[in-house]
Amino acid sequence: MNKQKKDFQSYSCPTPFLATKEYRRFSEFCNACQKYRYIGVCFGSPGVGKTMSGRQYAKWDLIAPLVDSFYKLDSSGNNRLLPKDITKCNSLFYTTPVSGTPGKIERDIHYLQHRINWMIDEAIIQHEQPDKDLKTWESPDHIELIIVDEADRSKQAGFEQFRDIHDRLGVGLIFIGMRGIEKQLSRHPQLYSRVGFVHDFRPLSQEEIQFILKYKWDELGTSLDPSDFTDTEAVASIIRITAGNFRLIHRLCLQFSRLMEINEMTIITKELVETARKSLVIGIM
Ligand SMILES: Nc1ncnc2c1ncn2[C@@H]1O[C@H](COP(=O)(O)OP(=O)(O)OP(=O)(O)O)[C@@H](O)[C@H]1O
Ligand SMILES: [Mg+2]
Repeated sequence: MNKQKKDFQSYSCPTPFLATKEYRRFSEFCNACQKYRYIGVCFGSPGVGKTMSGRQYAKWDLIAPLVDSFYKLDSSGNNRLLPKDITKCNSLFYTTPVSGTPGKIERDIHYLQHRINWMIDEAIIQHEQPDKDLKTWESPDHIELIIVDEADRSKQAGFEQFRDIHDRLGVGLIFIGMRGIEKQLSRHPQLYSRVGFVHDFRPLSQEEIQFILKYKWDELGTSLDPSDFTDTEAVASIIRITAGNFRLIHRLCLQFSRLMEINEMTIITKELVETARKSLVIGIM
């Protein structure tokens, strides 16, 4: 086993996760891939929330920080108490490395699968079946779905490796990537023939942006009033600038909150939003 410290967490978002309509659709897609053990392909523009949704479905913010250390004893020499929610985990989230050889992909997935299965067994013993003995218990494989983020980084051999993992483990497999990944996959007929579901990850709807902005307004210590013309105008301007892109909404809000702080302002106006927009680099979405 590679002794080097692994980091499968990549990043965790500082903002709380919001269960949008698109996330609900994405969850149904994941459930179907898991149930029928198909390969699924999820694609969408940058910043719409694909990675966040994949991590949320796999409860990755709960699992990833514990993968390397859950079995270690705590400072008083006792077994570490695992969160109860771990007993309900059944997915593995994997970010394709930029230069991932098939061997590395195989080793990483094997390591994660082994550790997460062990962790779930421990959690089941701690919370549900304290009489079970981990040494003699032939526990089932808990991992039923592997979500592969940044899948478009894979080369031909990488995709072959994923196909082999899917066939061997008999799990559902989801590739998340940029729009166009479905064409990239169609160049691998054997892999493509295993694709059962395709999910087009859409940007946020107008109503959802309004819902998210309510949170943002609260965070900034003010409240969003739909009957107030200034608020409605500012919201309309954010909807127009961001076109439902989650990442842009966060960046724009961050930018105008800075401006509010610097200028000691308490009201969010259309002019403030547009000034904030000028300092953002908005790429092609
Ligand atoms: N459901 C959500 N709740 C709260 N914030 C979210 C949610 N989805 C996305 N975000 C915000 O949008 C940002 C971009 O999301 P994410 O990284 O998931 O996009 P992506 O579609 O994977 O983009 P890329 O194609 O560039 O990888 C996140 O860092 C987060 O701030
Ligand atoms: Mg992403």
